[in-house]
Amino acid sequence: MKVAIGCDHAAYEAKEEIKQYLLDKGFSVEDKGCFSTESVHYPIYGKAVAEAVVNGEVDRGVLICGTGIGMSIVANKFPGIRAALCHNDFTAEASREHNDANILVMGARVIPISQMKSIVDIWFNTDFGGGRHQTRLDMIKKIEERR
Ligand code: RB5
Repeated sequence: MKVAIGCDHAAYEAKEEIKQYLLDKGFSVEDKGCFSTESVHYPIYGKAVAEAVVNGEVDRGVLICGTGIGMSIVANKFPGIRAALCHNDFTAEASREHNDANILVMGARVIPISQMKSIVDIWFNTDFGGGRHQTRLDMIKKIEERR
């Protein structure tokens, strides 16, 4: 599976750890930045990862900022993106099973790296449930398509 990853300065160290974690598990990872702890603007990196997913350049995305909130707001502006801010194992599983989330968002100032790794494991190993959940995603798609 191909994954695009992105972060801002608040999550640079977490992004490096999660990137390596994914590489060690055999994922192909495209790092969209940022590349240091120097202060940057998270919309740049949220946009880069969201576009990579929407364009089919990668299968899924991972975004990390301080709270995960800014990255979620940015990514969910892109039609076709279902970015899920996950804080624990339950939200990781539900975001895949119920929402077919295609971008995982986490807050580096909210949860420790050990929890992030657990979330990553669950999120990439949980399938979408379909059925009534697909009906709801179809409704979201209609909202995206409204003029
Ligand atoms: C950066 O200070 C911080 O605002 C950012 O990482 C994120 O938490 C925004 O939502």
